[in-house]
Formats: sequence, C-alpha cells, structure tokens
Amino acid sequence: MAKIIGSVTTSHVPAIGGAIAKNRQSDAYWKPFFDGFPPVRRWVDEARPDVAVVIYNDHGLNFFLDKMPTFAVGAAAEYRSTDEGWGIPTMPPFAGELDLSWHLIESLVGEEFDITTCQEMVVDHAFTLPMALLWPDQRWPVKVVPVCINTVQFPLPSAARCFRLGEAIGRAVRSWDSDGKVLIVGTGGLSHQLDGQRAGFINKDFDLQFIESLIADPKWATRYSIHELVRLTGTQGVELVMWLAARGALGEAVRKVHANYHIPISNTAAGLVALEAAA
Ligand code: DHB
Ligand code: FE
Repeated sequence: MAKIIGSVTTSHVPAIGGAIAKNRQSDAYWKPFFDGFPPVRRWVDEARPDVAVVIYNDHGLNFFLDKMPTFAVGAAAEYRSTDEGWGIPTMPPFAGELDLSWHLIESLVGEEFDITTCQEMVVDHAFTLPMALLWPDQRWPVKVVPVCINTVQFPLPSAARCFRLGEAIGRAVRSWDSDGKVLIVGTGGLSHQLDGQRAGFINKDFDLQFIESLIADPKWATRYSIHELVRLTGTQGVELVMWLAARGALGEAVRKVHANYHIPISNTAAGLVALEAAA
C-alpha cells in the first residue's frame, strides 16, 4: 500500500512568482521568505516522493463564481498553468497520477464527501508556486493529484470539515494499491486580508499558535467557525483550512522537519511548515 511521507504547507502569494522569474530570492525583502525552503527541500529530496497530493484553493482560474464546487479533485492526465493576470510566467505542465485520482475520488465519495470530479483542470498560483518553491528547476519529479477547497465564495466548508476531508484523504492514500510514496502539500494563508477596510490585516499571535498547534494539537483551529476565522485571520486568512486538511491526512504523530514565518510578503503573513508522518 502507498505511504504518506509527510506534508509541506506554505503560503502562495502571487508575487513569489515574480520574485522567482526575476531571481530576487536573495533581495533583502525576499530572503527571509526564500531562506525557509532549503531545509524543506533537503528533506523532500531525501524522502523522494512519487506523488504530490496538492490541496489548494482556486482563485477564479478553473472555477468562477457561476460554478463553485466546495471540494473538487483533479482526474486529468495533465494539468497546465495559464495566465491569471498576475504576470507570472507559466510553468511546465504537471503530470497527473490518474490511478490515485480515481482511487481518491472513489474513496472520498464512499465516505460521503460530495466532490466534483475534474477531468480537465487548469491550475493557478496556489498550485504552481508551492511546486516551484519545492522544485526550483521546475522539472517535476512527482506526479500530482490536485484537491481544491472553496475559500473564495461563501458559504465555505468549516475548518472541522476540512480537517475531516484531510483525514479521509489520508485513509484513501494509505489504502491505494501502490508502493508509491506520497507527499501532501497544502497551500494558502496564513493571516491576510487583501481588500476592504481591514486590508493588510495580519494576526501574528494567531498564526504562531496555529503553527504550533499543527504538531501536537492539530484540531485546535477546528473550534473556530469560518466567520470567526475571518475575524481572527482576515478574509483570505481562511485559506488556512488547506493546512488543516493537509495535517488531517498525516494521522496522529508527526515530527516537525522545519518551520518558517515571515511578515509580510505582499499583504500576507507567509508561513512554511514541513511535517514528517510517523512510520
Ligand atoms: C495575495 C495572497 C494570496 O493568497 C492570493 O491568493 C493572492 C494575493 C497577496 O498577498 O498579494
Ligand atoms: Fe490565495
């Protein structure tokens, strides 16, 4: 059966794509952010995952407000990035792991998660940038399965439900008839609000407590409703539900590989956490 090696959860601010394209990783503004990644890359390279299940939120590229699934899973042979208007260069296409996609879909529907199955799917910055941060040469050594959670149009699924989705993803991956090694990637957050009166809102205390909770008390943030999370972390801070889903997939015991937190990148508190799943 397949094995989950662990998770990497990270912010996905579009400006990261510009910094990569312009080679700004060592600039004073960017260095504290990019410096978080080498220890995580070393761990990922040593663990040599075959597949990445990438839990992220689409921002209007693949789904728009007219049709907005709460949960969607990719089942395509290939996923491409296209122009979203941020000026980020498109990346080489990502090969899909179709067998795991269909196993995941069967398993999640079997566990009463009503998901949308996407046999065609384009992926936005929330998917591509974390991949480019993990594999800067953009020669993807993993096949992928995208999992999308709606954090764009209300009503949003609760933090508790997203955690349970992650637990179900974990059960599905561990029952996949394959000797593959799977990395769970979760992207979004941490606290940020891009618009309105509270634009620029960041809650460092909450973010640090949230990061800490992922290790030994991973359900800590599931006590909050989505509206409480908006108040505590900003309108877009609710993207942290992707971190909860990724953590849910790992099971009880984890080892912290590395964590980094830096404010701000753009209007966003940029976090990075890598966790190894217990054997
Ligand atoms: C920013 C952050 C996001 O999560 C996003 O999807 C778009 C923009 C930002 O901070 O600029
Ligand atoms: Fe986002």
